[in-house]
Amino acid sequence: MLMTDIIAKKRDGEKLNAEEIQYFINGYTNGDIPDYQMSALLMAILLKGMDREETLNLTMAMMHSGETLDLSGIDGVIADKHSTGGVGDKTSLILCPMVAACGVKIAKMSGRGLGHTGGTIDKLESFAGFDTGISDEEFIENVNKTGISIIGQTANLDPADKKMYALRDVTATVPSVPLIVSSIMSKKLASGADIIVLDVKAGAGSFMKNEEEARELATELVEVGKRAGKKTVAVITDMDEPLGYAIGNALEVEEAIEVLNGEDRGELSELCLELGACILTQAQLAENEEQAKAILQKSLVDGSALNKLAELVKSQGGCPDAVYNTELLPKSAVQLEVPSLQEGYVEHIAADGVGLISMQLGGGRATKESEIDLSVGVVLNKKVADAVKSGESLGTVYAKTAHEAQAAAEKLRECYKISSTPVIKPKFIKGIIK
Ligand code: URA
Repeated sequence: MLMTDIIAKKRDGEKLNAEEIQYFINGYTNGDIPDYQMSALLMAILLKGMDREETLNLTMAMMHSGETLDLSGIDGVIADKHSTGGVGDKTSLILCPMVAACGVKIAKMSGRGLGHTGGTIDKLESFAGFDTGISDEEFIENVNKTGISIIGQTANLDPADKKMYALRDVTATVPSVPLIVSSIMSKKLASGADIIVLDVKAGAGSFMKNEEEARELATELVEVGKRAGKKTVAVITDMDEPLGYAIGNALEVEEAIEVLNGEDRGELSELCLELGACILTQAQLAENEEQAKAILQKSLVDGSALNKLAELVKSQGGCPDAVYNTELLPKSAVQLEVPSLQEGYVEHIAADGVGLISMQLGGGRATKESEIDLSVGVVLNKKVADAVKSGESLGTVYAKTAHEAQAAAEKLRECYKISSTPVIKPKFIKGIIK
């Protein structure tokens, strides 16, 4: 088999068979196929597409390019969740303890933040001592004991995706449905859960800029998951503004704890209940969505979801006291309110812009090796459609120095678009694909 023939076949819009797909995934992962040939093939896939069978074959070949996690030692139904990436997205910190408190096992591998988007692993490290690098054996033991464990991605999981994603990033080949589907689903399938729920973001702050594109991606993700034998559901949600109010690691942990304490945080609470209801119904712990949401609400009211977060933190070596007293979370030296210079209604908040402010304050990484400051970030006081008076606070900046706070405050103001006429908030949950 020749790589040039495979590239030419896809260039001409033909379908690749399973052997050809296996050949280029193996060859690229072990270094026999160079970056320049893989780049050409990725661009041909982006331009000519792949049908569902090709996408499934690509996903399975990538999944088997490295280790797969064997979760057979865990009793009960295991769920996993993935989001296509967003700003202020602390959903996993709420959803995972909540569904674990309701009896579904959570064995989850999460990522670190890169660029303007955050990662669950960094956020969890806001709890002093929390270890996200425990062994596979401890991971499984913790899930059996407490019902939940969350770790960083192991080094040899899906090496094909690690190489391909880095290449896509620098060859303008990220926004392709078959490439995104195979990238996400190969990692999820290698992680071994029975139920996979996906939060597919639509809007300016995400890969899929509109609802139609997000729906196409969600449909393909679900189809590939189902064909691979997993119960898979996708929820399509709006990402035209940050999710919730807090952006920044410890600040997001604090907001997650507020939700676990039963406080309503608008769309953030809505999303956690929706994703949780998908998991409980797929796990057959609830007959329908309404019943599932009532079970989940109870876990918030009776404190069992919050206690489950404390158990998670403790079982991975962290200090759980901060779960009950958020004053113990990392705190920034400087806090600065950002008053609005205009009166009106919030029309838009640039999610990627706010994410970038948090990153530049030290809360995110420019490269994988950067050290981050867990305490910095932004807490919004106004969200889309809120009325705002001149001089009223748009948000608060949390920074290391007064100088950095001032610069961030000016940028935060620029992220807000204020309209003189009332604004109708777009629907947050745009659809559910099962
Ligand atoms: N997230 C992934 O893991 N892969 C993609 O291709 C896009 C988003």
